[in-house]
Amino acid sequence: MTILSAQELPEDDLDRSLRPRRLDDFVGQDALKEQLAVSIAAAVNRGEALDHVLLAGPPGLGKTSLAQIVAAELGVAFVQTAGPTLERKGDVAAFLTALEPRSVFFVDEIHRLPRSLEETFYPAMEDHTLPITVGQGAGARVVTIDLPPFTLIGATTRTGLLSTPLRDRFGIQHRLDHYDARDLGRIVRRSARLLGVEIEDGGAVAVAQRSRGTPRVANRLLKRVRDFAQVRGEGVVTEQIAAAALDLLEVDHLGLDRLDREILRTICEKFSGGPVGLSTLAAAVGEEQDTIEDVYEPYLLQRALIERTPRGRAATARAFAHLGLEPLEPLKLI
Ligand SMILES: Nc1ncnc2c1ncn2[C@@H]1O[C@H](COP(=O)(O)OP(=O)(O)O)[C@@H](O)[C@H]1O
Ligand SMILES: [Mg+2]
Repeated sequence: MTILSAQELPEDDLDRSLRPRRLDDFVGQDALKEQLAVSIAAAVNRGEALDHVLLAGPPGLGKTSLAQIVAAELGVAFVQTAGPTLERKGDVAAFLTALEPRSVFFVDEIHRLPRSLEETFYPAMEDHTLPITVGQGAGARVVTIDLPPFTLIGATTRTGLLSTPLRDRFGIQHRLDHYDARDLGRIVRRSARLLGVEIEDGGAVAVAQRSRGTPRVANRLLKRVRDFAQVRGEGVVTEQIAAAALDLLEVDHLGLDRLDREILRTICEKFSGGPVGLSTLAAAVGEEQDTIEDVYEPYLLQRALIERTPRGRAATARAFAHLGLEPLEPLKLI
């Protein structure tokens, strides 16, 4: 097993350098921020650990950033790991017993925690205890270790994959939604300032509109657009430069990239608009089913380009129109 410390976890440099550090730097998600601020202030006031927090939502919307911000606002240590790297009970025990009181223990991708380990978390979350078995056979006995109070923050792309008993043990649960163009514009301008990129309002709007509601995508696109501005322009990200760069990157005006369009085209053309099962669709476009479900589908659903039906995913009339295809005749019910 590998225990990765926060520094060693593979993380994009761009994510790290642009990551908001305090609640005030975190753009948008106002209701969530206000609720968290109240819970944090109350915990600090009482000198207690904050309740356990579950953050759900598609990748790149700020779950890891928020977890770090919560620790910073609480003024406590931040310890980070990820569900798939925890394999044995001892792995969990090693983390839990080393925590300083009131620390934030962040488990990313908590839905990928092995089921057998979930039970280790229950007493730790509820009573700050860790029962462990010592010895073997007839001489085996259970020793209970007291743990310091701590806050578990779990991040997941899909709450549906968490078992109910685990989910129920999080006192605070939030879902992060895609950002609107206004908030993304603020994020783009903030990132441009941090990266020292000169950007005009029209340029920021263009990047924001094509960022599929996702801050991480906005930051990535901003970086590519900056390169383009340097090489093909005067270094300033104007609306025209941004549009030209994004066209070159094959990101269209809805923010769809090549795979988004491939997914739509496959449903529309190969499967006559659907419905088509997710695994069939994944095989047809040559992409992992999880990636489609976590990354692509939420945005296509949000833009009303596809629908989920009991028999699979179906393309909407908007999808046909977006691809410039003739919509299919609606099936006549006989
Ligand atoms: N609300 C926000 N305000 C400003 N930047 C954000 C916000 N949410 C995300 N970001 C940016 O997007 C990047 C990815 O966010 P991250 O917290 O790693 O997302 P997740 O953990 O949900 O995949 C961050 O490094 C940060 O630069
Ligand atoms: Mg993350």
